[in-house]
Amino acid sequence: MASRRTLSRPLGATNKVNATPLLSPRAPEMPPDRAVPRTLEADTSRATLPATMKTIVRERYGSAEVLELKDIPVPHVGAGEVLVRVAAAGLGRGVWHLMRGRPYLARLAYGIRKPKNAQLGLELAGTVARVGEGVVGFAPGDRVFGFARGAFAEYAAARADKLAHLPEGIPFEVAAAVPDSGVTALQALRDHGRVRPGERVLVLGASGGVGTFAVPLAKHFGATVTGAASAAKLDLVRELGADDVRDYAETDLGGPYDLVLAVGGSLPLGQLRRLLAERGTLVIVGGESRTMMRRLLGAALKAPFVRRRRIVTLVASENRRDLATLLGLLSAGALRPTLDSVRPITRLPEAMRDLEAGRVCGKVILEVAPPSAAAPHSHSPAHTAPRTAPADPSAGP
Ligand SMILES: NC(=O)c1ccc[n+]([C@@H]2O[C@H](COP(=O)([O-])OP(=O)(O)OC[C@H]3O[C@@H](n4cnc5c(N)ncnc54)[C@H](OP(=O)(O)O)[C@@H]3O)[C@@H](O)[C@H]2O)c1
Repeated sequence: MASRRTLSRPLGATNKVNATPLLSPRAPEMPPDRAVPRTLEADTSRATLPATMKTIVRERYGSAEVLELKDIPVPHVGAGEVLVRVAAAGLGRGVWHLMRGRPYLARLAYGIRKPKNAQLGLELAGTVARVGEGVVGFAPGDRVFGFARGAFAEYAAARADKLAHLPEGIPFEVAAAVPDSGVTALQALRDHGRVRPGERVLVLGASGGVGTFAVPLAKHFGATVTGAASAAKLDLVRELGADDVRDYAETDLGGPYDLVLAVGGSLPLGQLRRLLAERGTLVIVGGESRTMMRRLLGAALKAPFVRRRRIVTLVASENRRDLATLLGLLSAGALRPTLDSVRPITRLPEAMRDLEAGRVCGKVILEVAPPSAAAPHSHSPAHTAPRTAPADPSAGP
């Protein structure tokens, strides 16, 4: 949820140089390979780091038009931090919220009139370029993945305790899909939902970033899973292992359920509660920004008075332990992130528009440096999501 995203690295005046609009009225579909480099290739041939790097910024809230490619100084690594040379970064709905500045209440934390931190991106995979004071366990050249503000850049500074080592067999593009959505799904099921084998679980919003992790994880925990998504994406949800699928546009979402994860949509609290079995749990993960705050507030006020059912609001905790848990499942072939597509980072505006229009299944991965030669892996570590027909453009949360 928005409140956990603390952005603390405002860009200085020097960052105003070399702005390249990624999407301008004159060049709405500017091919990135002509307009700007296809990917952001850091020069690693020199032993020292470059002084500046390319990054994606937005100086004001708005649609994908506000996104720009800029040169800014390479971040300083503070104590307890690791500088990562980014290979791939994940795009999730949280980044969209930050770009749009929605829900509006979140602007109290992120900047009321304009974003305090112009950079975007919340999760990455790449190699360690430098380690800050007091960091143990990481060295330059190590492959890592995890959480980092400003991940849509050639370099990003991350807290060491929010990174985990990445084995050679897992490609950067696959690992970059995991931190935000995977950890959220894991905590929603295991910690907040306290899911038990045999329980009936509904994942409302099963085809998106969080949902495509939640369905296979719920199966892994032994639950019987119903996944709700738009009609065009129900085959994907079945492929993820759901025992039953529902089109969320239909009134009948089935039930009762022992656990409901409200990931997408805007169902009022009362209707969500009615899906619960006695002693069932509702975990509010996210939803449409127009109604999200009302629902969160309602949950906070009503939860103590709801009898024989539990209502919990999730704020995911970014930590290495859960990254390691998910990595274990990935390495064992028990979990495969759903990759909608892997695109050069310069195509972020297009990816944002696809996300907004409901055209994305699972995660879009943005390639920052060209893919490193990942060692061949014995299992396919990712689903490739089928291309779906565009949904109603106004339907995105
Ligand atoms: N609490 C936290 O710490 C935390 C962490 C991460 C994310 N989140 C939040 O979780 C939410 C989902 O994130 P995400 O990355 O999974 O987003 P996403 O990739 O955009 O997925 C949204 C999901 O919601 C579904 N959906 C859309 N309209 C719906 C409706 N009317 N009823 C039911 N489902 C509907 C979508 O289905 P179709 O695509 O098939 O239409 C899709 O499955 C966002 O609000 C995000 O900010 C919260």
